[in-house]
Amino acid sequence: MPGTIEVTMKVAIVIHSMSGNTYLMGRAFADELKQLGAEVALLRVVDQDWVEKEGLSDAARQNVSAFRALPEATAASLEAADLIVMGCPTYFGNVTGKIKVFMDTTGGLWFHAKLAGKKFAAFTSAGNTEGGGDLCLQAFHTYAKYMGMLVVPCPVRILPGENVNVLGVIQYSSGKPAEILDDKTARLIRNMAAFLVAR
Ligand SMILES: Cc1cc2nc3c(=O)[nH]c(=O)nc-3n(C[C@H](O)[C@H](O)[C@H](O)COP(=O)(O)O)c2cc1C
Repeated sequence: MPGTIEVTMKVAIVIHSMSGNTYLMGRAFADELKQLGAEVALLRVVDQDWVEKEGLSDAARQNVSAFRALPEATAASLEAADLIVMGCPTYFGNVTGKIKVFMDTTGGLWFHAKLAGKKFAAFTSAGNTEGGGDLCLQAFHTYAKYMGMLVVPCPVRILPGENVNVLGVIQYSSGKPAEILDDKTARLIRNMAAFLVAR
């Protein structure tokens, strides 16, 4: 339309994953957001303690390798984004230590309010439904609020008739390494991506 300016939304997706489930979620978010016209960087946090689980299937090993091949997230990559999406496995009802270490490198952004006003959404892969995935998402939200970001929850009726946590997308892995993303999580991520880019 004459007189309007199209601005491409820049998205940074920052993830940690050990056995690939959170990686598949991050990749699905990246694919959906790209299809919606966003410019997306899918990034990983550093995990120097990583060891490959024994007995991985070929599909699971590919997902794990793909996670480890992602570019590293930096504070600058958050600063460059309009929308920040972060995800990690639920560990002891919390975010993983590795993603927390990354958060703690962003103190300069906090001090200078560099992320204030940006949109933020979180996701997690948890072993089971009573495992505190919601607590992990709350920890992400606490970080986002300290940064002055605008936390976007999963809206009501994002999947009509199905149970969805309001705090963000949670996938339940039963502790199994990831081979493919389950249908419900894929649909949830598709709808959430559309909600995140809607103005
Ligand atoms: C150290 C550790 C702590 C964990 N703590 C929890 C937990 O508190 N609740 C839960 O539901 N699952 C827990 N899990 C299981 C993981 O959240 C689950 O396997 C997840 O799908 C792993 O994601 P990934 O494949 O992206 O690494 C834990 C796993 C590990 C290794």
